[in-house]
Amino acid sequence: MALTMFMLPFGYHYDAWRLPHSRSDEVARFSFIRDMALAAEEAKLHAVFFADSNDPKGLQISDTRSATVYEPVSTIGALSAVTSRIGMIGTASTTYSQPYSVARQFAGLDLLSDGRVGWNVVTSFGAAANFSMDKLPPPEYRYRRGAEFVEVVKKLWDSWDDDALVNDRERGLWADPERLHEIDHVGEFFSVKGPLNMPRPPQGHPVIVQAGQSSHGIEFGAAIADAIYTVQPDLEKSIEFYADIKSRVQANGRDPEKVKVLPGIMPILGETRADAEALSQELADAIRMDAGRRTVSRVLDVDVSDLELTDFIPPERMIDNPERMERWRLFRDLALEKNLGDLTVHIARSMGHRWMVGTPEEVADSLIEWFDRRACDGFNLNPPSIPVAMRRMFDLLVPLLQERGYFQHDYRGDTFRERLGVEVNPRAYRR
Ligand SMILES: Cc1cc2nc3c(=O)[nH]c(=O)nc-3n(C[C@H](O)[C@H](O)[C@H](O)COP(=O)(O)O)c2cc1C
Repeated sequence: MALTMFMLPFGYHYDAWRLPHSRSDEVARFSFIRDMALAAEEAKLHAVFFADSNDPKGLQISDTRSATVYEPVSTIGALSAVTSRIGMIGTASTTYSQPYSVARQFAGLDLLSDGRVGWNVVTSFGAAANFSMDKLPPPEYRYRRGAEFVEVVKKLWDSWDDDALVNDRERGLWADPERLHEIDHVGEFFSVKGPLNMPRPPQGHPVIVQAGQSSHGIEFGAAIADAIYTVQPDLEKSIEFYADIKSRVQANGRDPEKVKVLPGIMPILGETRADAEALSQELADAIRMDAGRRTVSRVLDVDVSDLELTDFIPPERMIDNPERMERWRLFRDLALEKNLGDLTVHIARSMGHRWMVGTPEEVADSLIEWFDRRACDGFNLNPPSIPVAMRRMFDLLVPLLQERGYFQHDYRGDTFRERLGVEVNPRAYRR
């Protein structure tokens, strides 16, 4: 299995930061995120993952889960100095950035970390008002721009030949200009001359991660990604999704075994069932129902202010449209089954990702079943709280997966690509 961890400093479970054991007073300091990364590295996880949003709205309604306090590029830069084996995936938006800058940032991180970096390619939601736009462009436009963006970034990473850095003191050449190639890209969105002004990244291309779940998003992921994050609460549906992604990867002329599908999972663990239930209850009790209700309103895009927690949201209030994220439909379907109170707690727990309360044996059995039935190639672990529930994942669950032969006892290979088992040293343009 490939295992990565979602680096949410407040914990993935809504309001976990309010528990007495949280370290929320230390969030935004380097020492805090360093400790999380080192714990994940000690547990031999393949990578830590930093989401990013550029959107302060979550914080304005006191939803710390969507607060991306640790900006990915700067944070991974700092973590490069204190970690040595673990991969580090950072998010950057193709809607709000330029390819030359992103190519440099991730090439730079890959160089500083000796080939341990991944780029989570997102087309973003929200935040348009912070980037001189009236509103977010529609998905079809964003994905078209995203596809050209990634093409340009790859061309830039490939603009140096492997042997371009000659360091020839006699001839006075550090990089051989003959082996640096202008890319002369002119497309619908970007015109970029190139070459990159820094050497080719150690991995060739940093690992590419993607999480689109709409039809545009899935197609995009199958074309460009080495790893796919996804929300899959249901085993049978995940098996379908997995088969669909793998066949699309193949249709793109790529090797399906080299593309890892990683659904999110939030394990709420205890040494005994009673311990796990106690932690689960403690987490549920921490949820501020008024704030949780505002989050339900935000993610479902519906007014619930007049409803009691025992009421169901009237179905006619939830209006679908093609610009909705796939996860919206998942929440809508849940809202048909659960009253507002139960829905609030459910969404608060893991934002639609699968969550489990149980002993390490129960959770390990289930993860193994998903893996064996080809519902996934591993998981993105969502730590319910920091540090207690995160430590339980590392101390109780990971060793069991190792014992049963499903997870690595140590890192193998020199780069994140090798360790993750995806294509090594890819080059899309020019040899
Ligand atoms: C685990 C996971 C992490 C994600 N992280 C981010 C993120 O950091 N920033 C972002 O803008 N979108 C993020 N997304 C959203 C996806 O990029 C994508 O927009 C979403 O899954 C909806 O898919 P669609 O755009 O194809 O509708 C994430 C999704 C998942 C499942």
